[in-house]
Amino acid sequence: MPAIKISDTLYSVGVKHPDLKVFDLLMPLMHGTTYNSFLITGEKNVVIDTVKLKFFGEFIENIKQVIDPSKIDYIVIQHNELDHAGSLLKLLELAPGAKIVISKAAENFLNNSFNSKLDFIKADDTTEIKLGPSQTLKFVSAPFLHWPDTMFTYYAEEKALFTCDAFGAHYCQKKGLYSGDMDRAEFEDDYFKQFKIYFEIIMRVYSTKVVSACEKIKSLPINLLLPSHGPLVNADIARHVKCYIDWSFSAPSAECKKAVIVYSSMYGSTMKMAYHIESLLKLRGVKTFVAEIPFAMSESQMADVIKEIAVSDALLIGSSTICSTVLKPIWDFLFFLATVELKGKTGGVFGSFGWDPQGLKIIELVLSNYKMKLIKDMYKIKFVPSEDKLLPAQEFVDRLVKSMNGEE
Ligand SMILES: Cc1cc2nc3c(=O)[nH]c(=O)nc-3n(C[C@H](O)[C@H](O)[C@H](O)COP(=O)(O)O)c2cc1C
Ligand SMILES: [Fe+2]
Ligand SMILES: [Fe+2]
Repeated sequence: MPAIKISDTLYSVGVKHPDLKVFDLLMPLMHGTTYNSFLITGEKNVVIDTVKLKFFGEFIENIKQVIDPSKIDYIVIQHNELDHAGSLLKLLELAPGAKIVISKAAENFLNNSFNSKLDFIKADDTTEIKLGPSQTLKFVSAPFLHWPDTMFTYYAEEKALFTCDAFGAHYCQKKGLYSGDMDRAEFEDDYFKQFKIYFEIIMRVYSTKVVSACEKIKSLPINLLLPSHGPLVNADIARHVKCYIDWSFSAPSAECKKAVIVYSSMYGSTMKMAYHIESLLKLRGVKTFVAEIPFAMSESQMADVIKEIAVSDALLIGSSTICSTVLKPIWDFLFFLATVELKGKTGGVFGSFGWDPQGLKIIELVLSNYKMKLIKDMYKIKFVPSEDKLLPAQEFVDRLVKSMNGEE
């Protein structure tokens, strides 16, 4: 992708990575991604974010199409993850006079990512950098979108807000650069779905931080929302911001307690336990959502279950024990739980086993690492459930309901 002029003083100098299949060993990608970087020109020249190091050659060529890199005055590093900051040292070799601008929280991140003595300016919500008579940069700290160091940059005269990972999508569009370049079908069916999945996987766990950041930018006039992955947003800006706010509001309902039960089961024994627990919870007036976790669950199916967990008071996980561990779908699911805030929610573990229920201990350990309030004693059944073997479920559910009501 060559340098592309956005306005008289603003250029896109980022690169595309259309064939990337997995991001951060976390997210499978259907449409590749982009590493967006921006160049502001004038009396002072500014680069906002860089690109992954392996794309440095293309990146610097893009900059050279517009200015001599030695004329760069500032490099704003909005977030130190190497998909955006990876080319910083190489860029500094060609722009030795450039000052690095980072957030107040970023010093440690910068030092330990580059292990070099770098001079930098720390910006916060009060910092303004005057680039010329009619060019001003302001900064908005946006911690945890997606690391503690993240900040946004606002180019006031252009009403352009650079947001790094926030409002991004792993989406390398076929034609054009802007959200407004897509036809409606591509926008809704391809891009916006990826925008949502990106939120679910990267941002949801920091929902409260997302809401704070959206509050901060509410008063800014925005003509362009410029994330560091995916299309530059010039159409439906308000919708993008509103979706982030709506998707983030997911507190459990005050009126009625809700429990999510997920399970995997080879021969149906753990499944029987799951539905028995559900029936007892319903008798106690608790709303329930039960999901079987199949062998190869897609990220979007996982995200649907995660959404239910976000608005629940309790999460129960069931797995039989296989070769001293949990079933593979539950392993995957335990990892995926990192995308939702579980702290303080009630957790419970159940499952069928043959001779030693080791798998259940693994689930307990993971849920306690996620800081869930685990109820005492897992609920386990040797091989196949019978009416007698199902009876202890009553006590399990009692403890669960007490914990959800804050009585235990
Ligand atoms: C391949 C295989 C390995 C197993 N390994 C263990 C084990 O390590 N420890 C154990 O207690 N049970 C083990 N079991 C027994 C299962 O946990 C038991 O059959 C259980 O009832 C299955 O429940 P499900 O139908 O809910 O999957 C194993 C079963 C299979 C098929
Ligand atoms: Fe990131
Ligand atoms: Fe990123």
